Amino acid sequence: MNTADVGYGLSARGVGMIYRRGKQSTVALTDCTLEVPRGSWTSLIGASGCGKSTLLRIFADIIKPTHGEARLHGLTPAEARAARTYAFVSQQSTMLPWRKMADNVGLGLEVAGVAKPERERLIAEAMELVGLTGFEKAFPSELSGGMRQRAAIARALTLKPRFLLMDEPFGALDELTRDKLNFELLRILEETGATLLLVTHSISEAVILSDQVAVMTPRPGRITKMIEIGFGRDRTVAMRDDPRFAVYEAELRHALHGDPAVVAAQRHIA
Ligand SMILES: Nc1ncnc2c1ncn2[C@@H]1O[C@H](COP(=O)(O)OP(=O)(O)O)[C@@H](O)[C@H]1O
Ligand SMILES: [Mg+2]
Repeated sequence: MNTADVGYGLSARGVGMIYRRGKQSTVALTDCTLEVPRGSWTSLIGASGCGKSTLLRIFADIIKPTHGEARLHGLTPAEARAARTYAFVSQQSTMLPWRKMADNVGLGLEVAGVAKPERERLIAEAMELVGLTGFEKAFPSELSGGMRQRAAIARALTLKPRFLLMDEPFGALDELTRDKLNFELLRILEETGATLLLVTHSISEAVILSDQVAVMTPRPGRITKMIEIGFGRDRTVAMRDDPRFAVYEAELRHALHGDPAVVAAQRHIA
C-alpha cells in the first residue's frame, strides 16, 4: 500500500452510506473521497439533507459507512475514538442544567478518568481559550446561547484533540454572534493546531473558516466540487472586505446553485 498518501490528516475513500429502515432505504452518501491535510481546515457545505452530517458522523464513529473507509491520522474512526484523537461538537450543545459550567466543561475529562487536580487545570485552560474565565460557577441557564456553544468548544478542547469535527456548531445562533465566534474559532485553531472538519450551510462561514470547501449536492449525496480558499493563515475580520472574499462567496454560490449566466442561458434555450 502506498502509505505516503494516506497522510496524517483526515481521509475518506469511496465512502457511501445507505440507511435502511425495514424495506425502505435512503442513499445518503455516494462515493465520497476527501483529504484534509493535517493542521488544515475543511468545510462541508450543501443543502439540507445532502449528507453532511452523515459524513461527519462516520468520522466521529457514530455510524459505520456501508461502503469505503474513513481514516483519522491513519486510524479507523473506532481506533481514533479509543485514542481520543478527535472531538465532536454539534449544533445544540448538551450542557447538563444542574451542573456548573466548569463541571460541564470537564465532563469529557471526568469520563476519561482524569484526576481532579489535572482536570481543574485543563478546564481552566480551555475556558480561558474560549473566553469564559469568570463563568466557572454559572449554570447553563444563566448563559447566552453563544456562551453555551463556547463552553461546548471548551469541553471539546479539554481532551486536546488533533481533530475537531463540528456539525453546524453556530447554526442555532444569531448572525452577529456567529460571526464573532467564527473569528474566535480561527484564533483557537491557530493556537491549538487542530485539524478542522466543519459542516455548515453558511457560505460566508465556509470562506472564513476553510482552506478548502467540499461542495455537496443531494440525492445521492456526493462531493461535486472542491474549492480552495487561498487566505492562508492571514485571517482577521478585515478579510471580509478583501475583494477575494466576495469572489470566493460567488464561486461557492455558483457551485451550490449553478452559475447565474449559465442558468439563464439554459432557460433561454429551453
Ligand atoms: N438515521 C437515519 N435513518 C434514515 N435516514 C437518515 C438517517 N439520518 C439521515 N438520514 C437521511 O439521509 C440523508 C442525509 O442526511 P444528513 O446527513 O443528516 O444531511 P445534512 O446534514 O446534509 O442535512 C437525508 O435524506 C436524511 O433524511
Ligand atoms: Mg446535518
